[in-house]
Amino acid sequence: MAKKPRGTKDLISPEIEKWHFLENKFKEVSKLFNYKEIRTPIFEHLEVFSRSIGEASDIVNKEMYVFSKGDGKKTGSFALRPEMTAALVRSAIENNIPEPNNIERLWYYGPFFRYERPQAGRQRQFHQFGTECLGSDSPLADIESINVAVSLIKNLGINNYELLINTLGNRNSQKIYFSILQEYLKDNSNKLSDLSRNRLEKNPLRVLDSKEKEDQEIIENAPKIQSSLDSESQEHIGKVYELLNASEINFKIDDKLVRGLDYYSHTVFEFRSNELGSQDSFGGGGRYNELFSQLGGKDIPAVGFAMGVERLLMILDKANLIPESAIKPDIYIVKADENVDEEIESILLTLRNRGLNSIRDISGRSVKSQFKESSKLGANWTIVIGEQEIDSQKLTLKNMITAEQTEIEMLELNNFKFKK
Ligand code: HAM
Repeated sequence: MAKKPRGTKDLISPEIEKWHFLENKFKEVSKLFNYKEIRTPIFEHLEVFSRSIGEASDIVNKEMYVFSKGDGKKTGSFALRPEMTAALVRSAIENNIPEPNNIERLWYYGPFFRYERPQAGRQRQFHQFGTECLGSDSPLADIESINVAVSLIKNLGINNYELLINTLGNRNSQKIYFSILQEYLKDNSNKLSDLSRNRLEKNPLRVLDSKEKEDQEIIENAPKIQSSLDSESQEHIGKVYELLNASEINFKIDDKLVRGLDYYSHTVFEFRSNELGSQDSFGGGGRYNELFSQLGGKDIPAVGFAMGVERLLMILDKANLIPESAIKPDIYIVKADENVDEEIESILLTLRNRGLNSIRDISGRSVKSQFKESSKLGANWTIVIGEQEIDSQKLTLKNMITAEQTEIEMLELNNFKFKK
């Protein structure tokens, strides 16, 4: 028997109702900050990701689902999207947004794919909610992004989390830092893992997020970017810290935070929760001022973040923060005699036309088991329909919560107030 691929999930009720709860929150928060939704394809040309996330990153190196398709000359290599930022920027360039001197605020939600070793909070198909603010190089845009994320977190009732922030400086500062870091890593290359030794040529920054045991001491003692920041970079992050303090957002400066994607410059940030075990980061983001030009567009500065939906759900589940909201029928119709199907169908039509969630038995259950089924499904009302009801044109409505019974004329179904 075929099983689902490793690292994927089937979402079935009542689990799916939790997702609906979260999806509504994503929409609410995006609306509060006037962000508009964007949807792009699930797969992109491979180079969208390889040219932006970085050849030396784990994602591009070993985690992408890549496939080739086409006929003759038009064969192309594609990848299932491992993240949204690069795909969104590709789409923004293609659709000419934002217009010159304008800001575009966009949000997204959907599935992403990374071939990672599955474990709690780490999936091969996972979901992200995120926002991207395109067209501003102001620290105010950084603050707005962080504010959207914090607002979502607060709105969900999550208190137990940490916001870590760092700066990677502008490209000028990065160049200076890269050569200092590279030199330091080369001096210690005999102690580094093979993986890091390979990475240090392509992008020494990637060595800093190595999880290999033998690299940890070298990483700990590595020179920090702070000493290589030029005045523009210092000013930018200084303003971000100032504004965060003014917005009363708690944060921790973490000079080891580098993030696993190459496109960042200036501010980077991550949300962590100790409810999550080893995969403790449930969201992250930062500024990416060079990504547009790297992907062939104009020079457009931008900043954004993404949250992992599965990890958010793990936190919410642990803290019992998701209200029970399984779909319950308003009305369950119990069939009491053999030849009343047509009448029941017509009553159901009346109720559904009124927008009431109404169901009936379709598997020939006895009257007693139909009542049982009605309470199991949590129906608010049960109506028995048999020959007697059809003849008299009178119905008894049973409120399943209070056990009260109300008698009405059949015609009153058009306007009876089915209170919950
Ligand atoms: P990221 O840190 O790679 O950033 O992913 C963001 C979040 O997605 C993570 O914090 C985590 O919650 C979730 N996530 C990532 N991989 C997995 C996985 N295999 N299983 C479950 N959850 C996962 C980005 O993707 C950037 N695009 C964020 C960004 C937006 N930067 C600027 N704008």
